[in-house]
Amino acid sequence: MSKTSNINRVDGFAKVTGAATYSAEYKTAGVVYGCLVGSTIAKGRIKSIDTKKAEWAPGVLAVITHLNVDKPSGYQKAKDKRNFGQPLQIFKDDSVLYYDQPIALVIADTFERMQYAASLIKADYFKEEHSTDLQKAADKEKKIDTEKGNDYHRGEHDGYKNAEVVLEAEYTIPTEVHNPMELANIIAKWDGNKPTLYTKSQGVEGTRRSVAGVFDVPVDDVSVFSEYLGGAFGMGLHTWPYEIAALMGAKKLNRPVKLVLHREQMFTNVGFRPFTIQKMGLGATKAGKLTGLTHEAVAMTSSYEDFMEGTVNMSRFIYDCANVSTRYRIVPLDTCTPIWMRGPGEATGSFALECAMDEMAYKLNLDPIEFRKLNYAEKDLEQNKPWSSKYLLECYEGGMERIGWKNRKNEPGSVKEGNWLVGYGMGTGTFGCYRSPTSVKAKFLPDGNLVLQCSVNDMGPGTATMMTAIGAEITGLPAENVIVEMGKSGLPKGPTQGGSATTSSVGSAVHDSCNLLVSKALELAAQNPVFKGIAITDLTFANGLIAAKNNSSKSIALTSLLTANKLEGLEVENLSKAAEEAKKYSIYSFSVHFVKVLVNPNLGKIRLAHVVSCADIGTVINQKTSAGQMFGGAVGGIGMGLMEALEIDHRFGRPINNNFADYHVPVHADIEKQEVFFVNKKDPISNPMGTKGLGETALVGMAPAIANAVFNATGKRVRDLPITLDKII
Ligand code: MOS
Repeated sequence: MSKTSNINRVDGFAKVTGAATYSAEYKTAGVVYGCLVGSTIAKGRIKSIDTKKAEWAPGVLAVITHLNVDKPSGYQKAKDKRNFGQPLQIFKDDSVLYYDQPIALVIADTFERMQYAASLIKADYFKEEHSTDLQKAADKEKKIDTEKGNDYHRGEHDGYKNAEVVLEAEYTIPTEVHNPMELANIIAKWDGNKPTLYTKSQGVEGTRRSVAGVFDVPVDDVSVFSEYLGGAFGMGLHTWPYEIAALMGAKKLNRPVKLVLHREQMFTNVGFRPFTIQKMGLGATKAGKLTGLTHEAVAMTSSYEDFMEGTVNMSRFIYDCANVSTRYRIVPLDTCTPIWMRGPGEATGSFALECAMDEMAYKLNLDPIEFRKLNYAEKDLEQNKPWSSKYLLECYEGGMERIGWKNRKNEPGSVKEGNWLVGYGMGTGTFGCYRSPTSVKAKFLPDGNLVLQCSVNDMGPGTATMMTAIGAEITGLPAENVIVEMGKSGLPKGPTQGGSATTSSVGSAVHDSCNLLVSKALELAAQNPVFKGIAITDLTFANGLIAAKNNSSKSIALTSLLTANKLEGLEVENLSKAAEEAKKYSIYSFSVHFVKVLVNPNLGKIRLAHVVSCADIGTVINQKTSAGQMFGGAVGGIGMGLMEALEIDHRFGRPINNNFADYHVPVHADIEKQEVFFVNKKDPISNPMGTKGLGETALVGMAPAIANAVFNATGKRVRDLPITLDKII
């Protein structure tokens, strides 16, 4: 274990003491307050909108609607509004595409006056028939013309049907919402034609590009600050209409506009995990060898974006199976557009696949782990490539031991603790390891500190801590001497935080830049008289001191070296990319979640007695932040399994539990004991540190683990999430 592998969160103190500045907290002179008024119908057109009362209300500075908006020139340029990744163009026309779609922006001099004025806006509509129920509209699928939407076949199409033992089952997951604690928020302002956004986003550079596109300004003229985030879980992957609205308001008034969505709007306006219906077909020999696997998914999208995710992808490679078919379809509904929510499609897909695997194991009278081991994939059959590394078996073993798998009986209902039925279940997760080109500047300051700069930001996993650990490791400086600057434009360009790729991308860039910086320092030192006659290869750098390897009396502090050379600092900015070699391998993280549930058969109450999450994520850079990620992801999966569902009243196309009282998420008291285990073995291919990514696979596989444990306890197979008590009594 290296000395940096357990450092505390470097921004933890700032976060818990209130010193960290979240987007809406920036002190901005002359700021005024905006809010969005939403439509009360799910589909149609605005017949009339009465803004007069609001305009005449005290303190109101502007009311913007489709009737008076200065349409940004980028609206016309955007060719096809159904483009992938293209959110709703706010105030574009009179059309209403979903319930609570913003139809007006009200801006006033105080928060209270803004809220009052917003309550005075009234609209009349030409209503049209809406469709928000995927179960009713599932046959109205849209043709997808992209590679992502292609069907996949290996071997015989739907080969499972010819197997000795066949299992067919259908699974549904409801709409779930991200709803981080920190609300979506922005302060928008303009300096002439140059916009500045203090905004909640997972991508500083992505936000700059979107805003530049909408307002038709150069990307370099867009400034974005997104230095601290109170969670996001994927909702910050888009630039949303509310951000564009705030910019419109700020431009019109030539004043900074602060706009914070209220909690109800977080359920309707910033994406969600889409309702998805999945059909599984598994075929196996009586001895337990998988011979066929078909996975079909139908997911909702919005009427204005072809949103897609990797729901069926895991089924193509995770098991050794000759005949695999996957089909993925989307159905446009009259809702806000979905967006990746932690674990994204893979979490949805693993629920169907890993439940079906459990059902098949039971049918074959096999232990579920035994069944998986019989079908262990020695290589990636989808890409026909070797794994870069795979320690899935270690995850199985680690979890079985910790959860007490030996106490499990294959026959449901056969283990009891007092009046409680005991069930054990597991589910496998995986997620691809991605790495995008990233620039990092590393700079030694005259005081001996190391500064690392990158525009990447952090929705919570601890990016600055990871950068600090890697920077300290490479330079040999104590972690206290590393200063990270991130989360804003103007710094070397970092990626959007998403897809579990931040450590792989940004960590590698820190690694590379710091190595180059150390070389540069050694080159400079080699010219110093102290090291006369000593080759650069015989110099070492540790703790801010450059010394001769064989003669420690010959040394010079980096600070003295800089002074001697009259340097303000020493810096390297480097763009770091994945190696070509990596393309020869299939690189995935793996996880296995184990749960022990106690179920009261009379009340249907489910207790999570013990949860163990194991993962092969390559090297663990920091045990604390990684464990935090894994705990959090597992809790997200528990919410998915037992509690979360956005209920829509389809008569009106609107949610009925758009608040935290009715939309349930797990709290500490819901989980009696939770553990995390990492294999922590370096991947030789993925990147210089050998990490593979963690954020998503921390959630993938948890929901099926719970469903499988509930079956093991009760004999009730619940195939539609969440598993609420009414489904098991
Ligand atoms: Mo993650 S769902 O890419 O924020």
